[in-house]
Amino acid sequence: AAKKLFLLPGDGIGPEAMGEVKKIIAAMNEKWNSDFATDEGLVGGSAYDAHGQAVSEADMQKALAADAVLFGAVGGPKWDGVPYEVRPEAGLLRLRKDLELFANLRPAICYPALAASSSLKPEVVEGLDILIVRELTGGVYFGEPKQIIDLGNGQKRAIDTQVYDTFEIERISGVAFELARTRANKVCSMEKNNVMKSGVLWKEVVAQTHKAKYSDVELTHMLADAGGMQLVRWPKQFDVIVTDNLFGDMLSDVAAMLTGSLGMLPSASLAAPDAKTGKRRALYEPVHGSAPDIAGKGIANPIAMIASFAMCLRYSFNMVAEADRLEKAIADTLEAGLRTRDIMSPGMTEVGTTAMGEAIRER
Ligand code: NAI
Ligand code: MG
Repeated sequence: AAKKLFLLPGDGIGPEAMGEVKKIIAAMNEKWNSDFATDEGLVGGSAYDAHGQAVSEADMQKALAADAVLFGAVGGPKWDGVPYEVRPEAGLLRLRKDLELFANLRPAICYPALAASSSLKPEVVEGLDILIVRELTGGVYFGEPKQIIDLGNGQKRAIDTQVYDTFEIERISGVAFELARTRANKVCSMEKNNVMKSGVLWKEVVAQTHKAKYSDVELTHMLADAGGMQLVRWPKQFDVIVTDNLFGDMLSDVAAMLTGSLGMLPSASLAAPDAKTGKRRALYEPVHGSAPDIAGKGIANPIAMIASFAMCLRYSFNMVAEADRLEKAIADTLEAGLRTRDIMSPGMTEVGTTAMGEAIRER
């Protein structure tokens, strides 16, 4: 049976970056007999322009039926004034919610060719390869009550509520332990059990899950604020970091900047495996947005989108050799001195989106 990919290029540089992935998919089908079947839909502002919604019901059904969704980026100044419920971001939020994507995987890897141009010392980042596993559907971003109350004396009170249930912590730590087994076999769990009840339960459930099913993996615990400091001081001490929605949001952005440009960073979001088939719903997307400042100029870096497709090969289709080969093609292309403008440095060769995509595809 064909591997069903549903492509949602979105807005701005989304379609430009996705275009390079489409060419890679076509080349894999042609040269390696990979059996990818692709279908394409609209999301974000382009979906709003076409049918007044950030993602149509028909495209939602296709996303639900696909083996994996590849997502570009959404948004842009053109849609600043559209109603809140149909703003471009609503399309991505709807996908995350309906596909039940509770695990967000954000790798921070430093390509050797880029270590010298990092804002940190080269020895701190060279060879860096860490994976942050962030809980994506619970915690303080979704917990109730969530409101602003007028206290009537000129004062207001804002309330957000951090809520985690045992099963949510179990399933996210399970993902982290399983991924660690395919890597350096180490997990560091980050919370704040010194000041938060959710931190107490988090640490307890991670430890129990470890003991019950994953005792072969090395597990450590760290307070999330100390974790932030350690990420910047000596990131190579980590392999997999598992943390909640809020801390994960911040820690993954910190880790991202260890490695350079937004244009380089992929991500994956996974659902629980289906009880019968073992298949997981999944969505793969670059960390960057639609970059309206450079959209349509042919200069966007397609590497984040291409590396997101490599994650798709690895996690949705278990095509480990192909994923490794695609990631090596990216590293080799950088090694050869090719750079898009966002990662350009003296002595290197500046190329546009399609030339970068082609160089990677050839390799
Ligand atoms: P952005 O990530 O789109 O751009 C930030 C800066 O990084 C810009 O200067 C941009 O040119 C540069 N950049 C980003 N990706 C690049 C690439 N692949 N190659 C070269 N340069 C790149 O974030 P910004 O400017 O805050 O947001 C722009 C729009 O994107 C907004 O409408 C925002 O809501 C949306 N957005 C969408 C996201 C998504 O679809 N997941 C995530 C973040 C923002
Ligand atoms: Mg963030």
